[in-house]
Amino acid sequence: MKTMTPPRWLFALALLALGAACASTGPREGLDASQLPPDVRDDYALFARRCSKCHSLARPLNSGIDDDARWTDYVTRMRRQPGSGITQQDTGPILRFLHYYSLEQLRAKRARAMANDRAASKPPTPPAEAAPERTADR
Ligand code: HEC
Repeated sequence: MKTMTPPRWLFALALLALGAACASTGPREGLDASQLPPDVRDDYALFARRCSKCHSLARPLNSGIDDDARWTDYVTRMRRQPGSGITQQDTGPILRFLHYYSLEQLRAKRARAMANDRAASKPPTPPAEAAPERTADR
């Protein structure tokens, strides 16, 4: 006689779906540390730990801030939030990472602008007679 317990394959399917859901969101939010230069990884790790306590890392990463002075300002403000867990000593490495990140953002921005320029103004094909007129050279 058959029991009414759900079949095993249903559990297997549920597990599979769960696994797929996790895989699609990636291992962790934020940047892929393996893509960072080795000397930036430790700074990034500290930033990721300290700056994801109250909001997602997307908050700083997508803020569009690419200026050291503004980062110093923000990190100071965040450190002073009650229970931030950010110490004065943490700010050095965190700001070092944010400086690196700002430069990367500026670089990407410039690259995008250049790509747009190229797309907007396709260089005209150079005229066939581009060479300067030659005078009789003797
Ligand atoms: C104690 C909790 C806490 C921690 C830890 C924290 N934040 Fe925040 N953060 C907040 C709150 C609350 C706000 C929204 C209010 C505000 O803008 O001040 C915020 C907002 C921000 C914003 C503004 C985003 C926007 O849309 O304008 C940035 C940027 C930011 N945080 C960066 C950081 C960085 C970088 C760190 C790590 C050094 C950090 N936060 C750590 C609480 C925190």
